[in-house]
Amino acid sequence: MFKLEPIKNMNEEERLKYMNLLLKSQLSSEKDDLANISNATGIIMACVDRLNWAGFYILRGKELVLGPFQGLPACNRIEIGKGVCGTAVKTKEVQLVPDVHLFPGHIACDQASNSELVIPIIKEDIVYGVLDLDSPEKERFTQLEKDYFIKFVDILNQYINWENI
Ligand code: SME
Repeated sequence: MFKLEPIKNMNEEERLKYMNLLLKSQLSSEKDDLANISNATGIIMACVDRLNWAGFYILRGKELVLGPFQGLPACNRIEIGKGVCGTAVKTKEVQLVPDVHLFPGHIACDQASNSELVIPIIKEDIVYGVLDLDSPEKERFTQLEKDYFIKFVDILNQYINWENI
């Protein structure tokens, strides 16, 4: 059973480190890729506050398709180059967006979202999708979080065979 107590008194960096430790523990104790990325979204929501949505979009052919997530029901499909997620795929770069309303073409899946962090999932030069985090607060995401979420995706890449998803 997952216990929240250890997280309560941690500062931001301790929580992010703990999040990545929990992810490694999940990935090294379970072989099923779908179970693993589903619990990865639960680990994020447990360890990171002030989020309204966290989840995966998986690249299928020429569009992103919704994967495991936590939050309100979201857009099922996003074209490459569209919105923050599609831009992360097109540019192969992390998108840290302090105010989504100022991002050209932002796709409003959840009206509560005001800032967004999207990490492209790239393994051996192949793009498999994105990890998308949304917050109701403007300027919510820090450089520190960006660094730890890049590490989070690196850890996923060590274990997940994205072609199985
Ligand atoms: N806002 C995203 C769409 C996905 S939702 O936030 C879950 C975008 O512009 O790509």
